[in-house]
Amino acid sequence: MALRQLALGVLAAFWAGAAGAQGKGFLPYEDSGAVARGETLYQEFCASCHGVDLEGETANWRERKDSGRMPAPPHDASGHTWHHPDMVLFRLTKLGVEAVVGQGYESDMPGFGDVLSDAQIIEILAYIKSTWPDDVIGMHNARSGS
Ligand code: HEC
Repeated sequence: MALRQLALGVLAAFWAGAAGAQGKGFLPYEDSGAVARGETLYQEFCASCHGVDLEGETANWRERKDSGRMPAPPHDASGHTWHHPDMVLFRLTKLGVEAVVGQGYESDMPGFGDVLSDAQIIEILAYIKSTWPDDVIGMHNARSGS
């Protein structure tokens, strides 16, 4: 994994977004083309665990599975995806939860850095964000905007 490359790509995305979106973070959730591409990719790469309607793997997503690992949480407004700023969501998706949390934490959330480009990851996250109600988008902007 070329970490330096990752950092540069993310910085570029961050500054591009920050310049254009003014305190809304770098996810193009108001760009209908990006959102449509993100939805297609979401269905292909994420829906099997996070649900076709972003509803999560199970209604009991706060409880560990028999394996001791956490189920996939919903990405709709009922989950805690929106608690995380853009950069955290990007890193979790690109690197996987184990790599981001570290300290031997075991997780079923893989990293997608080998199958999805940075731009594709950003479009998937933009799709997810576009489904949230306005008040949740506002709270997420406050966490992600700069
Ligand atoms: C093989 C199942 C699986 C697939 C496929 C998957 N995820 Fe996950 N994801 C998980 C699990 C399980 C967790 C919870 C991890 C944990 O807490 O240990 C998770 C957590 C996350 C989180 C953190 C959410 C939060 O509220 O803390 C994000 C962001 C995420 N996934 C994004 C994605 C995206 C985007 C895709 C598609 C590119 C995807 N995931 C595909 C299983 C999956």
